[in-house]
Amino acid sequence: MVAVLDPFHAIAVSARAHALAAQGRAIIHMEFGQPSTGAPAPAIAAAHRVLDNGAMGYWESPALKERIARHYLETAGVTVDPACITLTCGASPALVMALSLRFGPGDRVAIARPGYVAYRNNLRALFMEPVELPCGPAERYQLSAAALAALHPAPAGVILASPANPTGTVIPPDELAAIVEVCRARGIHLIADEIYHGITFGAEARTVLGMDPQAIVVNSFSKYFSMPGWRLGWLVVPPELAEQARARMGNLFLTPPVLAQHAALVAFDCADELESHVATYARNRELLLAELPRWGLGGIAPPDGAFYIYADIGHLTDDSLAFCLKMVEETGVASAPGVDFDPVEGHRFIRFSFAVSTALIEEAIERLRPWFAAQPRRSHA
Ligand SMILES: Cc1ncc(COP(=O)(O)O)c(C=O)c1O
Repeated sequence: MVAVLDPFHAIAVSARAHALAAQGRAIIHMEFGQPSTGAPAPAIAAAHRVLDNGAMGYWESPALKERIARHYLETAGVTVDPACITLTCGASPALVMALSLRFGPGDRVAIARPGYVAYRNNLRALFMEPVELPCGPAERYQLSAAALAALHPAPAGVILASPANPTGTVIPPDELAAIVEVCRARGIHLIADEIYHGITFGAEARTVLGMDPQAIVVNSFSKYFSMPGWRLGWLVVPPELAEQARARMGNLFLTPPVLAQHAALVAFDCADELESHVATYARNRELLLAELPRWGLGGIAPPDGAFYIYADIGHLTDDSLAFCLKMVEETGVASAPGVDFDPVEGHRFIRFSFAVSTALIEEAIERLRPWFAAQPRRSHA
């Protein structure tokens, strides 16, 4: 039996956007969830030095693991043994490793719907069963302790994402504690995708490390550290899983890129540059939150973090992919269709990524304001 996975439809929008750019059109890329900024300047300088002087064989940086552990101590007051940290080629392989460390074929794992497309697809690829819990604007698109408690039979596991993709919403600390308690009481294994930690707008995104000693945490240098193409992330597991985590990394992926590891160590000391990106996202968020409702877009849960706004466009379409393709064609603004995040309701949602400059957000608003005003309403919407 071969698993069949869904494509990432935003790639089709992006491909069209790039084709239009090749024709000379000015495109604003709001389709992918990636910072438009590069790695911090001192991190790039460190990479240059390694390129000139290093041999770059297979390697895992002990200093980087210690630095990550120190990061947890400094930012969350949580002690993590560096031996429990595995460096990975981004959060993506870390997620596969986390799932395969905890679950086997047929195991049911709860996820929020809408949610990051890879959760559903990775579970399928590993012959596990995604249990999608519908989460609407009333739930701020997030899983709750009550929803997990109401699942019968109890799933083997749950993946939490806070801040979440595609909505940027955060699970408040007291709700997170309640979820951890439901997991403990019902024997549900928790995997927390903390990839958007560091990018919050006043809300507290608390790490589950220190709350649940059995939790597995996935994280990455792709978002806050602005290094998506460097392909570096990490996995934190309970001590009893550390050896099997290393075995998975070694067998499936060997080591992460050496250049990235050297650069990432330096990136931890670039707070000023990285915080200036977060300040840009905060400004962009304000602009979009003020504007989108005026265009009739609904269902918006103001994002607590990450760099996304997820909005209901059901009054205009029941085919979000066709809508995004039309929008990029006619305005040059690329976005992601909701079907990537929610196979049931996503046909009437759109996700804007605002990880671009504020000038580009202003330009996107200027283009989209008249365009949305001119879109015909669906007759029965
Ligand atoms: C929620 C979430 N998890 C994981 C990833 C994968 O990130 P990476 O493999 O670049 O670390 C992404 C990428 O967009 C994401 O949004």
